[in-house]
Amino acid sequence: MLLNPPSEKIKSIKRLLAIESSCDETSVAIAQFELLKENRFQNFQILKNHTWSQSKTHSPYGGVIPELAAREHSSKLSSLIKETCQQTEISLKEIDGFAATQGPGLSSSLLVGHSFAKALACSFKKPFFSINHLQAHLLSPFISKNPPHQKHIGLIVSGGHTLLIHSKAWNDNEIICSTLDDAAGEALDKAARMLKLPYPGGPEIEKMAKNGNNKAYSFPRPLPQSLNFSFSGLKTSLLYTLKKEPLTNSEKKLSDLCASFQQAIIDTLTKKTIKTAKIKKCDCIGLSGGVANNQSLRKALKTACQKEKFHFLPASPEFCGDNAGMIAYLAIWKYSKQQKSSLKDDIAPNLKFAKH
Ligand code: KG4
Ligand code: ZN
Repeated sequence: MLLNPPSEKIKSIKRLLAIESSCDETSVAIAQFELLKENRFQNFQILKNHTWSQSKTHSPYGGVIPELAAREHSSKLSSLIKETCQQTEISLKEIDGFAATQGPGLSSSLLVGHSFAKALACSFKKPFFSINHLQAHLLSPFISKNPPHQKHIGLIVSGGHTLLIHSKAWNDNEIICSTLDDAAGEALDKAARMLKLPYPGGPEIEKMAKNGNNKAYSFPRPLPQSLNFSFSGLKTSLLYTLKKEPLTNSEKKLSDLCASFQQAIIDTLTKKTIKTAKIKKCDCIGLSGGVANNQSLRKALKTACQKEKFHFLPASPEFCGDNAGMIAYLAIWKYSKQQKSSLKDDIAPNLKFAKH
């Protein structure tokens, strides 16, 4: 991934270890890159992106239990770090900097990864990078792409957020719109619970939707005139549909409900994303966050982008859900610009999207 003329001298090869623990995934990544003169980098690689999902722990409760999440992060993290070092054949002594998610997220979960990374940075006397989880999601489509950043409208769709961001540079990002209530992933998780499907609901609804008719039920497309999102009315509409026509053992009916509900979310996300890109006169669209794993959403946005002659940049599936690879990628940018964080930096469970 070239950011410089080939003749430019490489200053040195650097390696970073990153930790993500904002919710219910414990993840560790090691990244390598070539540091260049004038605070630039090239040839970055995520050598290993090792994620342990806690979904089995939380599934019986239909959602994440913060206390259990934090306990599992604590018990898993050191062995994940050890395995990641073994698999990349890189020891902790060879790491040039440590990074962790600062927020937003669950405070007790964030605390585990953030404190661990600070302790490593302190004991190995290396810089520490405190990372905004949302900015990391936003940049994740560029991990496997060249160039490393370009102006785009980024749609972040996760369990906690639905955001459209005008990204002018890696550190110059403006929120254009967000959700007034539930996030898209949250709406899918809540709908799955109503449909008696396991947690996390997004992938379960996607599985059922594959055999369903997405026009069988007419769910609303909320706030058609506004750029902002609102998914709680959609959820209520599903509730009323189920009151009128309770679930039976009919697999066909469940598939149709899933397909129709999912389609209402996809239509809304696609329409508002394209509208925002047109308003901002931006012809590149990024897609990231856990819901970006959804094949029908990827297809719908790809088709809409082709129609408008926009460039479409979805994050690769490995980097859609919460993962430390995206934390490492943002830490590379910060390392190359010498923007290290203080070891006094604390977690920020309500961290906002701001200029960095
Ligand atoms: O980004 P993420 O892993 O965590 C947060 O930062 O919230 O996103 C998790 C969300 C969950 O709501 C989950 O149901 C949803 O992503 N999700 C999906 C799919 N895979 C995960 N939603 C729809 N289709 C999927 N395949
Ligand atoms: Zn996330």
